[in-house]
Amino acid sequence: MKIVVLTGAGISAESGVPTFRDADGLWEGHRVEDVATPEAYDVAPITVHRFYDARRAALATVAPNPAHHALGRLEGVLGEDLFLVTQNIDDLHERGGSARVHHMHGELLSALCRACGRRTEWREDLVDLPPCPACGVCELRPDVVWFGEIPYGMERIERELMTADLFVSIGTSGAVYPAAGFVRFARACGARTLELNLDASEGTPFFETARHGRASDLVPTWVDEIMERLAH
Ligand code: OAD
Repeated sequence: MKIVVLTGAGISAESGVPTFRDADGLWEGHRVEDVATPEAYDVAPITVHRFYDARRAALATVAPNPAHHALGRLEGVLGEDLFLVTQNIDDLHERGGSARVHHMHGELLSALCRACGRRTEWREDLVDLPPCPACGVCELRPDVVWFGEIPYGMERIERELMTADLFVSIGTSGAVYPAAGFVRFARACGARTLELNLDASEGTPFFETARHGRASDLVPTWVDEIMERLAH
């Protein structure tokens, strides 16, 4: 059985990473267009660096929760028959035991050089404009996909969705494309579809089945069901 899992901010919420669309419409106190667009970076790079530097530093204060660990266990059983694509830029899937994670919106622990295009694993601040380890030019930016930019590896994702038997979406509001369109694409290609989310999302009507509750409860339960099915 080939499974594609898409995760969003909701899977990391119980680890203490804030989701994007909270009640006041602000993203950790910032308007999204002030920190997550290429235009914002051109106008105020230091503000943008401070925002992402703080989020990178905050990774040290959070830990994976049972939902991340359950997906790590599932990979251990399914291997390449599990394709885990996340919109999250944290590293909680990796720390939860998933070795092959496709970060379609980039990663906090990576820096992208605007001069040479090289992506470099990065754990320090970027606000001091350090040189790129590859080319030496001081043009490193957060390696995250901003609004108006194209997510990483869309062709690969589409190939995986085309061959999936089951598509599962976990902890995402279904408000941001292209990820919000995966469920319809997977269904059109013949996959069963399941949503695991805290509450009904914009995407809920497109799923065959939806279960609502906390990811730390729903995901381990669902993974146990799949393991049980595979064992028989
Ligand atoms: P959102 O903040 O839009 O949605 C998070 C979803 O998780 C909501 O539907 C919540 O109900 C749900 N949720 C919250 N806590 C949960 C829990 N404990 N268990 C299960 N579900 C829970 O986050 P995303 O859908 O990930 O893009 O946002 C998508 C993209 O929009 C992000 O990757 C980012 C953002 O702007 C970019 O930065 C390009």
